[in-house]
Amino acid sequence: MTEYVTVTSDAPEGRTGAIKLHGPAAFAGMHKAGRLAAETLDMLTPHMVPGVATAELDRLIYDFIVAGGGVPATLGYRGYTHSTCISINHVVCHGIPSEKTLKSGDIVNVDVTPIVDGWHGDTSRMYLIGDVPLKARRLVEVTYECLMLGIEQARPGAHMGDVANAIQRHAEKHRYGVVRDFCGHGLGRLFHDAPEVVHVGKPGTGPELRPGMIFTIEPMINIGRPDVKLLDDGWTAVTRDRSLSAQFEHSIGITEDGCEIFTLSPAGFHQPPFS
Ligand code: MF3
Ligand code: CO
Ligand code: CO
Repeated sequence: MTEYVTVTSDAPEGRTGAIKLHGPAAFAGMHKAGRLAAETLDMLTPHMVPGVATAELDRLIYDFIVAGGGVPATLGYRGYTHSTCISINHVVCHGIPSEKTLKSGDIVNVDVTPIVDGWHGDTSRMYLIGDVPLKARRLVEVTYECLMLGIEQARPGAHMGDVANAIQRHAEKHRYGVVRDFCGHGLGRLFHDAPEVVHVGKPGTGPELRPGMIFTIEPMINIGRPDVKLLDDGWTAVTRDRSLSAQFEHSIGITEDGCEIFTLSPAGFHQPPFS
Protein backbone atom coordinates (compact mmCIF):
# COMPACT_ATOMS: atom_id res chain seq x y z
CA MET A 1 0.00 0.00 0.00
CA THR A 2 1.21 3.48 -0.81
CA GLU A 3 1.43 5.69 2.24
CA TYR A 4 1.19 9.47 2.11
CA VAL A 5 2.19 11.89 4.84
CA THR A 6 1.47 15.60 4.97
CA VAL A 7 4.64 17.49 5.85
CA THR A 8 3.56 19.99 8.48
CA SER A 9 6.68 21.30 10.20
CA ASP A 10 9.67 23.00 8.59
CA ALA A 11 12.00 20.47 10.21
CA PRO A 12 14.04 18.06 8.07
CA GLU A 13 12.20 14.79 7.59
CA GLY A 14 13.79 11.39 7.22
CA ARG A 15 13.34 8.69 4.60
CA THR A 16 10.32 6.77 5.85
CA GLY A 17 9.13 5.24 2.58
CA ALA A 18 5.95 7.31 2.75
CA ILE A 19 5.25 9.82 -0.03
CA LYS A 20 5.48 13.36 1.36
CA LEU A 21 2.81 15.93 0.57
CA HIS A 22 4.51 19.31 0.83
CA GLY A 23 3.07 22.78 1.45
CA PRO A 24 3.66 26.23 -0.04
CA ALA A 25 6.96 26.80 1.81
CA ALA A 26 8.43 23.70 0.19
CA PHE A 27 7.21 24.80 -3.24
CA ALA A 28 8.83 28.20 -2.73
CA GLY A 29 12.08 26.53 -1.63
CA MET A 30 12.02 24.14 -4.57
CA HIS A 31 11.35 27.00 -6.95
CA LYS A 32 14.50 28.78 -5.76
CA ALA A 33 16.69 25.66 -5.83
CA GLY A 34 15.27 24.62 -9.19
CA ARG A 35 15.97 28.03 -10.68
CA LEU A 36 19.63 27.92 -9.62
CA ALA A 37 19.88 24.41 -11.09
CA ALA A 38 18.44 25.58 -14.43
CA GLU A 39 20.61 28.72 -14.44
CA THR A 40 23.66 26.51 -13.90
CA LEU A 41 22.84 24.55 -17.06
CA ASP A 42 22.12 27.82 -18.92
CA MET A 43 25.52 29.21 -17.83
CA LEU A 44 27.25 26.13 -19.22
CA THR A 45 25.91 26.49 -22.77
CA PRO A 46 28.77 28.49 -24.35
CA HIS A 47 31.31 26.19 -22.67
CA MET A 48 29.94 23.00 -24.24
CA VAL A 49 32.41 22.95 -27.14
CA PRO A 50 35.07 20.58 -28.51
CA GLY A 51 38.28 20.50 -26.46
CA VAL A 52 36.88 21.38 -23.04
CA ALA A 53 37.67 18.91 -20.23
CA THR A 54 34.70 17.69 -18.23
CA ALA A 55 36.64 18.47 -15.02
CA GLU A 56 36.74 22.10 -16.18
CA LEU A 57 32.94 22.05 -16.57
CA ASP A 58 32.71 20.58 -13.06
CA ARG A 59 34.75 23.54 -11.71
CA LEU A 60 32.54 26.06 -13.53
CA ILE A 61 29.49 24.38 -12.05
CA TYR A 62 30.91 24.35 -8.52
CA ASP A 63 31.80 28.04 -8.70
CA PHE A 64 28.43 29.03 -10.17
CA ILE A 65 26.40 27.08 -7.62
CA VAL A 66 28.38 28.42 -4.67
CA ALA A 67 28.22 32.01 -6.02
CA GLY A 68 24.45 31.52 -6.32
CA GLY A 69 24.15 30.62 -2.65
CA GLY A 70 23.95 26.86 -3.12
CA VAL A 71 25.96 23.72 -2.44
CA PRO A 72 26.26 20.85 -4.96
CA ALA A 73 24.31 17.92 -3.48
CA THR A 74 26.51 15.35 -5.21
CA LEU A 75 29.69 16.58 -3.42
CA GLY A 76 30.32 13.90 -0.81
CA TYR A 77 27.10 12.06 -1.66
CA ARG A 78 27.71 8.34 -1.05
CA GLY A 79 31.39 8.91 -1.68
CA TYR A 80 30.92 10.85 -4.94
CA THR A 81 33.41 13.75 -5.04
CA HIS A 82 32.20 16.00 -7.88
CA SER A 83 29.66 18.79 -8.37
CA THR A 84 27.99 17.24 -11.41
CA CYS A 85 27.61 14.08 -13.47
CA ILE A 86 28.66 14.39 -17.12
CA SER A 87 27.59 11.50 -19.34
CA ILE A 88 28.93 11.34 -22.89
CA ASN A 89 27.48 9.29 -25.79
CA HIS A 90 26.96 5.68 -24.59
CA VAL A 91 27.26 6.70 -20.94
CA VAL A 92 23.73 6.46 -19.55
CA CYS A 93 24.25 8.42 -16.32
CA HIS A 94 26.64 9.20 -13.44
CA GLY A 95 29.63 9.94 -15.71
CA ILE A 96 32.48 11.25 -13.55
CA PRO A 97 34.15 14.55 -14.53
CA SER A 98 37.76 14.00 -15.62
CA GLU A 99 40.49 15.40 -17.86
CA LYS A 100 38.73 13.77 -20.83
CA THR A 101 37.74 16.41 -23.38
CA LEU A 102 34.57 16.84 -25.41
CA LYS A 103 34.83 16.31 -29.15
CA SER A 104 32.73 17.27 -32.15
CA GLY A 105 29.86 14.83 -32.63
CA ASP A 106 29.42 14.04 -28.92
CA ILE A 107 26.04 14.17 -27.23
CA VAL A 108 26.48 15.07 -23.57
CA ASN A 109 24.22 15.05 -20.53
CA VAL A 110 25.04 17.36 -17.62
CA ASP A 111 23.16 16.70 -14.38
CA VAL A 112 23.27 19.20 -11.51
CA THR A 113 21.62 19.36 -8.09
CA PRO A 114 22.26 22.52 -6.07
CA ILE A 115 20.94 22.60 -2.51
CA VAL A 116 19.54 26.04 -1.68
CA ASP A 117 18.26 26.72 1.85
CA GLY A 118 18.03 22.95 2.32
CA TRP A 119 16.01 22.28 -0.87
CA HIS A 120 17.30 20.18 -3.78
CA GLY A 121 16.87 21.33 -7.39
CA ASP A 122 17.71 18.38 -9.66
CA THR A 123 17.86 18.78 -13.44
CA SER A 124 19.78 17.57 -16.45
CA ARG A 125 19.96 18.53 -20.10
CA MET A 126 21.62 17.27 -23.27
CA TYR A 127 24.13 19.34 -25.24
CA LEU A 128 25.24 18.77 -28.84
CA ILE A 129 28.98 19.25 -29.34
CA GLY A 130 29.99 20.62 -32.74
CA ASP A 131 28.54 18.66 -35.67
CA VAL A 132 26.32 15.87 -34.40
CA PRO A 133 24.97 13.21 -36.79
CA LEU A 134 21.22 13.25 -37.42
CA LYS A 135 20.69 9.88 -35.75
CA ALA A 136 22.08 11.20 -32.46
CA ARG A 137 20.24 14.51 -32.73
CA ARG A 138 17.01 12.61 -33.27
CA LEU A 139 17.61 10.55 -30.09
CA VAL A 140 18.12 13.76 -28.10
CA GLU A 141 14.97 15.31 -29.53
CA VAL A 142 12.80 12.26 -28.84
CA THR A 143 14.21 11.95 -25.30
CA TYR A 144 13.22 15.56 -24.59
CA GLU A 145 9.75 14.82 -25.96
CA CYS A 146 9.57 11.76 -23.67
CA LEU A 147 10.26 13.91 -20.60
CA MET A 148 7.68 16.52 -21.58
CA LEU A 149 5.03 13.91 -22.44
CA GLY A 150 5.62 12.39 -19.00
CA ILE A 151 5.25 15.79 -17.35
CA GLU A 152 1.99 16.37 -19.26
CA GLN A 153 0.54 13.38 -17.39
CA ALA A 154 1.53 14.74 -13.97
CA ARG A 155 -1.61 16.00 -12.25
CA PRO A 156 -3.75 15.04 -9.23
CA GLY A 157 -5.62 11.79 -9.75
CA ALA A 158 -3.23 10.46 -12.37
CA HIS A 159 -0.91 7.56 -11.54
CA MET A 160 2.82 7.13 -11.84
CA GLY A 161 2.07 4.47 -14.46
CA ASP A 162 0.46 7.15 -16.66
CA VAL A 163 3.70 9.16 -16.60
CA ALA A 164 5.76 6.03 -17.27
CA ASN A 165 3.52 4.82 -20.06
CA ALA A 166 3.61 8.14 -21.93
CA ILE A 167 7.41 8.02 -21.86
CA GLN A 168 7.67 4.35 -22.82
CA ARG A 169 5.17 4.58 -25.68
CA HIS A 170 6.89 7.54 -27.28
CA ALA A 171 10.37 6.02 -26.95
CA GLU A 172 9.33 2.60 -28.23
CA LYS A 173 7.42 4.13 -31.14
CA HIS A 174 10.88 5.23 -32.27
CA ARG A 175 12.31 1.75 -31.51
CA TYR A 176 14.42 3.11 -28.68
CA GLY A 177 15.08 1.30 -25.38
CA VAL A 178 13.96 2.82 -22.06
CA VAL A 179 16.44 2.23 -19.22
CA ARG A 180 14.93 0.29 -16.29
CA ASP A 181 17.86 0.30 -13.88
CA PHE A 182 17.61 3.99 -12.91
CA CYS A 183 14.51 5.95 -11.97
CA GLY A 184 13.30 9.40 -11.01
CA HIS A 185 12.66 10.02 -7.34
CA GLY A 186 10.90 12.09 -4.75
CA LEU A 187 13.02 14.98 -3.51
CA GLY A 188 12.85 18.09 -1.36
CA ARG A 189 14.98 18.36 1.74
CA LEU A 190 16.18 14.89 0.77
CA PHE A 191 18.03 14.24 -2.52
CA HIS A 192 16.48 10.81 -3.13
CA ASP A 193 13.16 10.05 -1.43
CA ALA A 194 9.99 8.06 -2.10
CA PRO A 195 8.37 7.53 -4.51
CA GLU A 196 10.43 5.78 -7.14
CA VAL A 197 9.51 7.34 -10.50
CA VAL A 198 9.73 4.62 -13.14
CA HIS A 199 9.84 5.41 -16.85
CA VAL A 200 8.20 2.19 -18.05
CA GLY A 201 4.72 1.07 -17.00
CA LYS A 202 1.01 0.68 -17.57
CA PRO A 203 -1.64 3.42 -17.29
CA GLY A 204 -3.51 3.49 -13.99
CA THR A 205 -0.84 1.57 -12.09
CA GLY A 206 1.52 2.75 -9.35
CA PRO A 207 1.02 5.46 -6.75
CA GLU A 208 -1.69 8.05 -7.36
CA LEU A 209 -0.42 11.61 -7.76
CA ARG A 210 -1.65 14.07 -5.16
CA PRO A 211 -1.14 17.82 -4.68
CA GLY A 212 2.05 18.51 -2.74
CA MET A 213 4.08 15.65 -4.18
CA ILE A 214 7.53 16.70 -5.37
CA PHE A 215 9.62 14.43 -7.59
CA THR A 216 11.88 14.22 -10.62
CA ILE A 217 11.16 12.69 -14.00
CA GLU A 218 14.40 11.74 -15.75
CA PRO A 219 14.04 9.22 -18.58
CA MET A 220 17.20 7.63 -19.99
CA ILE A 221 16.60 6.51 -23.57
CA ASN A 222 18.94 4.34 -25.65
CA ILE A 223 19.12 3.98 -29.43
CA GLY A 224 19.58 0.25 -28.76
CA ARG A 225 18.65 -2.12 -25.93
CA PRO A 226 17.61 -0.83 -22.48
CA ASP A 227 20.33 -2.81 -20.67
CA VAL A 228 23.08 -1.01 -18.80
CA LYS A 229 26.27 -2.06 -17.08
CA LEU A 230 28.26 -0.38 -14.36
CA LEU A 231 31.95 0.35 -14.95
CA ASP A 232 34.67 -0.58 -12.42
CA ASP A 233 34.69 2.94 -10.97
CA GLY A 234 31.39 1.99 -9.32
CA TRP A 235 29.50 4.98 -10.79
CA THR A 236 29.61 5.20 -14.59
CA ALA A 237 26.64 3.42 -16.16
CA VAL A 238 26.94 2.59 -19.87
CA THR A 239 24.71 0.88 -22.41
CA ARG A 240 25.59 -2.83 -22.63
CA ASP A 241 25.38 -2.71 -26.42
CA ARG A 242 27.40 0.56 -26.52
CA SER A 243 24.51 2.35 -28.23
CA LEU A 244 24.03 6.09 -27.65
CA SER A 245 21.96 7.16 -24.64
CA ALA A 246 20.24 10.46 -23.83
CA GLN A 247 18.50 11.91 -20.78
CA PHE A 248 16.63 15.01 -19.65
CA GLU A 249 15.49 15.66 -16.08
CA HIS A 250 13.14 18.12 -14.42
CA SER A 251 12.07 18.53 -10.80
CA ILE A 252 8.32 19.09 -10.53
CA GLY A 253 5.63 19.57 -7.90
CA ILE A 254 2.00 18.43 -8.16
CA THR A 255 -0.41 21.36 -7.76
CA GLU A 256 -4.21 21.42 -7.36
CA ASP A 257 -4.73 21.35 -11.12
CA GLY A 258 -1.54 20.05 -12.70
CA CYS A 259 2.11 20.52 -11.96
CA GLU A 260 4.78 23.15 -11.63
CA ILE A 261 8.21 22.61 -13.22
CA PHE A 262 10.82 23.98 -10.81
CA THR A 263 13.78 23.61 -13.19
CA LEU A 264 12.60 25.40 -16.36
CA SER A 265 15.41 27.28 -18.14
CA PRO A 266 15.13 31.06 -17.53
CA ALA A 267 17.14 31.53 -20.76
CA GLY A 268 14.70 29.39 -22.75
CA PHE A 269 17.38 26.73 -23.33
CA HIS A 270 14.90 23.86 -23.13
CA GLN A 271 16.40 21.53 -25.71
CA PRO A 272 19.35 21.83 -28.10
CA PRO A 273 20.41 23.40 -30.36
CA PHE A 274 20.59 26.39 -28.00
CA SER A 275 21.79 29.00 -30.51
N1 MF3 B 1 21.51 13.89 -10.10
C1 MF3 B 1 21.37 12.45 -10.14
C2 MF3 B 1 19.87 12.20 -10.16
O1 MF3 B 1 19.24 12.68 -11.04
C3 MF3 B 1 22.01 11.76 -9.00
C4 MF3 B 1 23.49 11.82 -9.02
S1 MF3 B 1 24.09 11.10 -7.60
C5 MF3 B 1 25.74 11.07 -7.86
O2 MF3 B 1 19.27 11.62 -9.32
F1 MF3 B 1 26.25 10.74 -6.73
F2 MF3 B 1 25.99 10.23 -8.83
F3 MF3 B 1 26.15 12.26 -8.23
CO1 CO C 1 17.35 12.98 -10.14
CO1 CO D 1 19.86 14.60 -11.59
